[in-house]
Amino acid sequence: MADTTVDPEVQTLRQAFYQRIDQHDLAPLWEVMHKLVTPEPNSPCVPVLWHYDELRPFIMEAGALITAKEAERRVLVLENPGMRGHSCITRSLYAGLQLILPGEVAPSHRHTQSALRFVIEGSGAYTAVDGEKTLMEPGDFVITPQWTWHDHGNDSDAPMVWLDGLDVPLLQLLDASFAQPYEADEQPLLRPEGDALARYGSGLMPVDYDTRSVTSPVFNYPYVRTREALETMKRSEAWEPCHGLKMKYVNPVNGDYAMPTMATFMQLLPKGFETSPYRSTDSTIYVCVEGRGRTAVGEQIFAWGPRDIFVVPSWTRHHHVALEDDAVLFSFSDRPVQQKLGLWREERSAV
Ligand SMILES: [Fe+2]
Repeated sequence: MADTTVDPEVQTLRQAFYQRIDQHDLAPLWEVMHKLVTPEPNSPCVPVLWHYDELRPFIMEAGALITAKEAERRVLVLENPGMRGHSCITRSLYAGLQLILPGEVAPSHRHTQSALRFVIEGSGAYTAVDGEKTLMEPGDFVITPQWTWHDHGNDSDAPMVWLDGLDVPLLQLLDASFAQPYEADEQPLLRPEGDALARYGSGLMPVDYDTRSVTSPVFNYPYVRTREALETMKRSEAWEPCHGLKMKYVNPVNGDYAMPTMATFMQLLPKGFETSPYRSTDSTIYVCVEGRGRTAVGEQIFAWGPRDIFVVPSWTRHHHVALEDDAVLFSFSDRPVQQKLGLWREERSAV
């Protein structure tokens, strides 16, 4: 918008100048600086809630229209309404719901994007990663680290749906995407099922273990273990005002987040508990695993139940309340990236 306090003659001279420098791929910073360097995060990402029951028929319809092999990955992308057409759920992250029908295989490939799977529905389909297969159950958090071969299949007799979370937009920003198909649909299995969890996820580590991987060697964090841990910790009744009981998934090698670009969390809100308002700079995707509740996000109120998915954008004040029963929420964000760059901020508000 033209500045009315400026002399019209000067305005005209400036506009002519901008047009001339435009021919040389130059632009005046002072016209755009307020949009680039904002006093607070000003994200196009908006709060959004998807009820799984409303999405499920579309997912199943996709299953009748295209095979997993034909699609390579049969996924309905969850697009943030503030950024339609960009295949992202937040500015830095991608999410989608993937369907594998009984007997199907999603062929093996690898890419520099890191991926997480959070199982929503079904039981007993598998993901194979780097020579090991893991069977998946609802609530399991499964990792396919960057540049590892991975394929998915379903030997069960029911459809399986999981939420995919990837750092696709982040790698787009960095222009660091590489991808390759494997020479066969399925990779050879080199280790027995459960080996990684036993070897690295049991409070033990192989003596002399040395790795340069930045991702946890545990690639399935089963919900049954996570839930049991939450239930045991719950007995101490030590609730954090903004989070209830919130745990992060860690890489047992170094205690860091399980994945280099995405933080993953599981939290329990006891029945009736209302958290204090909180905000942080990492836009966060939540999935309700158990219970029902409400989350106030900015001016909106989301009522959620099992399998529902919602987004809290960067620096948006929010608080949760668990209704009828204890609620369990899985969530993920780009927090590791922001923290490693010294950018992450949080704010707790007094009630
Ligand atoms: Fe993949």
